Amino acid sequence: MNHDAVRSAYGPRALEYRTAVGSIEHTHPADRELVAAWAAGLKGPVVDAGCGPGHWTRFLAEHGARVEGLDVVSEFVALAAELSPGFPFRVGSLEDLGVEDSSLGGIFAWYSMIHLEPAELPAVLAEFARCLRPGGALLTGFFEGPEVERFPHAMMPAYYWPVDELVSKVTAAGFEVLETHRRADTGRRPHAAVAARRLGRT
Ligand SMILES: C[S@@+](CC[C@H](N)C(=O)[O-])C[C@H]1O[C@@H](n2cnc3c(N)ncnc32)[C@H](O)[C@@H]1O
Repeated sequence: MNHDAVRSAYGPRALEYRTAVGSIEHTHPADRELVAAWAAGLKGPVVDAGCGPGHWTRFLAEHGARVEGLDVVSEFVALAAELSPGFPFRVGSLEDLGVEDSSLGGIFAWYSMIHLEPAELPAVLAEFARCLRPGGALLTGFFEGPEVERFPHAMMPAYYWPVDELVSKVTAAGFEVLETHRRADTGRRPHAAVAARRLGRT
């Protein structure tokens, strides 16, 4: 992943992102319900990977998760720390979460893998598998589409993924997929989410 491209797309617009879509009030009630239920079942530390302004990080913490927010864009990390004082945020990447093997109970990747080139996704999922303990949980949200297709997202190019194709990538990385969700709201791009657990002996 070209981190400089992500930084130059999001960095100068971090506050704009927060104002337009990046607060918990902007999120869908069904997503809040899903994420709250997911948080309740976590065992061990959690990383919000690609946390943006940190609203989900805070939400996860408020729902019992021991969570750290991580983003490759330093402006987001600074903004998140300002908006949620006392909550931990740091600069880091999806490709290198900077934690020990099998040390995490959960990884939350909400619309943060959407900018990856399809060929880059397996390496990120392999990194998630490395970091999660067996049984550890992954929850990811993304734009759903009938095929893997690039489109001009407002911040930088992104990809639609069919749920089945994302499921097969997640499965190939050593996960068991537990749940999938889809939603199509008028005037919005179709949304999907996949919840999975890291395979292996617990
Ligand atoms: C569409 S925003 C989603 C932000 C937040 N998760 C949310 O739901 O509002 C995508 C986020 O992923 C981050 N991101 C994209 N590629 C990344 C990478 N390779 N490593 C870490 N963060 C990345 C961006 O900086 C941005 O904060």
